[in-house]
Amino acid sequence: MRDVLIAPSILSADFARLGEEVEAVLSAGADVIHFDVMDNHYVPNLTVGPLVCHALRNHGIEAPIDVHLMVRPVDRLVHDFANAGATYISFHPEATEHVDRTIGLIRELGCKPGIALNPATSLQCLDYTLEKIDLVLVMSVNPGFGGQAFLTSSLDKLSKIRTRIDALARGGDETIRLEVDGGVKPENIRRIAAAGADMFVAGSAIFNADDYALTIAELRNQIAAADG
Ligand code: DX5
Ligand code: ZN
Repeated sequence: MRDVLIAPSILSADFARLGEEVEAVLSAGADVIHFDVMDNHYVPNLTVGPLVCHALRNHGIEAPIDVHLMVRPVDRLVHDFANAGATYISFHPEATEHVDRTIGLIRELGCKPGIALNPATSLQCLDYTLEKIDLVLVMSVNPGFGGQAFLTSSLDKLSKIRTRIDALARGGDETIRLEVDGGVKPENIRRIAAAGADMFVAGSAIFNADDYALTIAELRNQIAAADG
C-alpha cells in the first residue's frame, strides 16, 4: 500500500484555540497540518499569514506544515513563510509571473515546493516543472472556502497526474506527493485514493466532527479499502 498523509486544514478549526486544535488533530493521528493562506485578491476570502504559522512553531508544533498559498503575487510571501517554519509551500502557477523562479526560491529557502491546480487548470503547467517539485496539489473545489462539495472531475485529473509521477520514478524521500484538497470526506476518500492521491486534505470533515481520532481512523480505513 502507498504510504499516505492525512492533512487537516486549519480553515475549519476554532481559530480562537488554534494551538490546541492543531495539537488535538496531531494526537488524533494527523500527519501534516494544511495551512490555507487567502488574500482577498487571488481568492475571495482572507485568512492567516506567516505570523500565525510562526506562532504555531513557537507553540511547539513540530509536524510538517503544508502552506497552501492562494495569494497573488507569490514570491514575497515565500520568504516570510520559509522564515515562519513552513515545510511545504504550494502556489497557484497563474498567480506568479515566473513559475520556475518561484519553485527555485521555495527550494533555495529550504522548503518543499508544490504546484496547486484549480479545477479548470489543465495539466500543461506540469510540463517542465513536475521534476522540480515535491508536491502537486489538486484542488477538488474552487479555492476560497471550506465546506464545499467535491468536484468529481478531479478524479480523472488525479489519475493522469499519478501516471506522470510514477513515470518519473522518483522514490523514497524524493517522492512527489499527490495531494487532493477540497470536499474530502469518509464517504468519498476511497474513490479519491483509488485515483492515486497519497496526501489528503480534510478541513470540515475533521474539524466539524465530534471525535477527531475516530474520523481520521475512518479516513485511513477507507483509503486502505481502496487497495483491496
Ligand atoms: C479551499 C482550501 C481547502 C479547504 C478544505 O480553498 O484550499 O483546504 O479549506 O476544506 P474542506 O475539507 O472543508 O473542503
Ligand atoms: Zn488548501
